[in-house]
Formats: sequence, structure tokens, C-alpha cells
Amino acid sequence: MSNVIVLPQTNQLKGLYTIIRDRNTKRSDFIFYADRIIRLLVEEGLNQLPVEPAAIETPTGAAFPGVKFQGKICGVSIMRAGESMEQGLRECCRSVRIGKILIQRDEETAQPKLFYDKLPADIDNRYVFLLDPMLATGGSAAMAVDVLKERGVPEERILFLNLLAAPEGIKLFTEKFPQVKIITGAIDDCLDEKKYISPGLGDFGDRYYCI
Ligand code: PRP
Ligand code: URA
Repeated sequence: MSNVIVLPQTNQLKGLYTIIRDRNTKRSDFIFYADRIIRLLVEEGLNQLPVEPAAIETPTGAAFPGVKFQGKICGVSIMRAGESMEQGLRECCRSVRIGKILIQRDEETAQPKLFYDKLPADIDNRYVFLLDPMLATGGSAAMAVDVLKERGVPEERILFLNLLAAPEGIKLFTEKFPQVKIITGAIDDCLDEKKYISPGLGDFGDRYYCI
């Protein structure tokens, strides 16, 4: 699984996850600590982008063989929960373009349904950071990648950033899209009978936006 990148499991990261997994964490803390993890995911996504040589001169007059990013990027959030990751991307990439795909998972069947998409016109020329905090069955993210591919984005230019992934979702997703990079903060044990990630953190969208 060379295209699955898990953030280094530092003590700091484990502590952040402990807070957001805790059912007793109040919403303001959930938002604050989830945002900190999101920032780490975005930074790791940027680490994965290719660079090209960029020679510069420093204030001392010395030449320095630097690098710069090779391509342009954009974000695409899977609404609703994916929108929580937009600010973290904006903090790292000023005035980044952001597209939206509204996909909702049916609460009974866990099947995804596509309602809407609005994407940058030149998305086929960009690296795409696909944003959704939860990779459970993988159905929603796979549907979003289908939309991106229909718009001409090659798989190898898609990086899917999520906070929590289930093995079942990773399997489905990597078999369908072997060239898309998954960047996650944690891989959990399994899905439960309601197709929620276990041990998980519950419903991310509800905890970030509602309860
Ligand atoms: C959640 C989550 C993902 C999806 C993951 O969204 O944000 O989009 O479920 O599940 P899957 O991998 O089994 O498809 P949900 O549809 O519950 O809506 P929300 O964003 O409004 O919370
Ligand atoms: N969506 C969530 O928010 N959490 C899960 O565990 C699965 C899907």
C-alpha cells in the first residue's frame, strides 16, 4: 500500500486523537483539535507534491539551489463534513481555489448519493486535494473521484486527505484507484454493523457542526 500515507504516530498526534475520539469532548474542543490534525494532513499533502529546481540568491549574495512547487493545486471538499477541512488548506495555500461535491451517505443503507458538484474550470490542470474527514466504506470518496476523473483529473494528481480510515474503505478505494494517494491520520480496526468506523469518533459532521 505504497499510496497510503499515515501521519507519524507521535505522542502529540495520539493525544490529539484521544481528545477528538472521546465522546465527552465538547464541540468547541472537538473543532479546535480536529483543526490541528487537519493542518498536519494538509502539510503532509504538500510534502507529497513534486518540486522543480529554483535557483535564488540570498541576502548574503550567495547562490542557493532551492526548489519550488511544479504545479497548481486546488481543494475539493465532500460536503458537509469535508468543508471543515477547507480552512486548514487556506491557511497553508493563500487564495487556493476550492470546489465542492455534495455527497450524502444514506443513513440506512450507507450507500452514497451524489447531489451536486461545482469545480474549478481548469481542475484538469491541477493537483486536487480531496477533503473528507472520514473514509468508512469508501463509497463516498470513490464517487467523488469518479466525478473528478470525468472532469479530466488523472488519478495520480489526486490526494485524498482524511482523519480516520477503515481497512474496508482503504481496500475498496485502493483497488479502484491504485494511483490516488491517501493521506490519513489513523487507520482504525473495522466498520461496525452501522458501517461506522470502530473505535472511530462517531459522526464527524454532527460533532463539528451540530452537537
Ligand atoms: C460521512 C463522511 C463521508 C462519508 C464516509 O458523510 O463525511 O463523506 O460519511 O462514509 P463512506 O466511506 O461509507 O461513504 P455523511 O454522508 O454522513 O454526511 P455529512 O458530511 O453531512 O456528515
Ligand atoms: N461518517 C462518519 O462521520 N463517521 C463514520 O464513522 C462513518 C461515516
